[in-house]
Amino acid sequence: MSEIKKIAVLTSGGDAPGMNAAIRSVVRTATYHDLHVFGISQGYHGMIEGEIKRLERKDVGNIIQRGGTILKTARSMEFMTEEGRKKAYESLQAFGIQGIVAIGGNGTYTGAKVFSEEYDVPIIGVPGTIDNDIYGTDYSIGFDTAINTAIEAVDRIRDTADSHSRLFFIEVMGRHSGYIALYTGIGSGAGNIFLPETEDSIDELITQLKRKGRRKKLFNLVIVAEGNKNGGAMEIAAKVKEQLDNFDSKVTIIGHLQRGGSPSCNDRVLASTLGHAAVTALINNEKSIAVGLKNGRVLYTTLTEAISKENEINKDLIEMARILAL
Ligand code: F6P
Repeated sequence: MSEIKKIAVLTSGGDAPGMNAAIRSVVRTATYHDLHVFGISQGYHGMIEGEIKRLERKDVGNIIQRGGTILKTARSMEFMTEEGRKKAYESLQAFGIQGIVAIGGNGTYTGAKVFSEEYDVPIIGVPGTIDNDIYGTDYSIGFDTAINTAIEAVDRIRDTADSHSRLFFIEVMGRHSGYIALYTGIGSGAGNIFLPETEDSIDELITQLKRKGRRKKLFNLVIVAEGNKNGGAMEIAAKVKEQLDNFDSKVTIIGHLQRGGSPSCNDRVLASTLGHAAVTALINNEKSIAVGLKNGRVLYTTLTEAISKENEINKDLIEMARILAL
């Protein structure tokens, strides 16, 4: 039998479309099992400040389709200190909270691990980030929506790039991960994709573009992951321009557009599944684990493993993308 009667949910780090669907799932699964649920505002910052309020079933109505997070989010420096975590624990004690569902990325998981070791408060991590850089799940909540937003933007750029025979460098997010760039590049039929995980050469790009230029193909799309080792789209475009002045080149940084918007159906279903799995884990007295979905099945990973391993990029997809763009 579960000892847990009161739990809390928070969102932390960069927001991701589908976080609201996950909050809804946590609240509704918990109330179904007669647990009291609290929402912690602004992630670990709100935990420290005691910004905590009760959430009922009705409070999470009409949010499944909304981007962002109704709980707000933050990146808390104070939670990285012992003193900050002590204050956070005192807030939880004041509300009688016995378990937490923390929705976020690697930073969120790291905070959860340290805190649950220090204070023996069970925390279950739910992967919520557009970057898809979390070990223990095929996809993180928000990734699917972000890549769909990105390819919609690239499709629009393609129209104008084609009309003007221009070379476009399009930068996408992803921090140190190339997942967004790889999927956006494949999905939009880009000519080149610069990833953090590969040794992409600007000289090689220039050689390819010269070859295309001789065939009078001046319209080209290059997708650049923000974490690429050669720099962002601006830097790569500048280096290419130095050697290729017959190309009319432009740069677009899609930026935070990728973080907003109504979540895709895939993200809503993933978020609902993982929110439900996280509460089930708390009821089963699990501690310091993260939930994920692999090959369609819910999977539990320890927080230690989740933060120490990478969600490796699919090398076969990289090779396929190269062949399709030749
Ligand atoms: O982790 C999500 C993410 O959007 C990354 O892709 C990006 O590097 C970063 O957050 C941007 O963070 P901020 O919201 O602080 O601009």
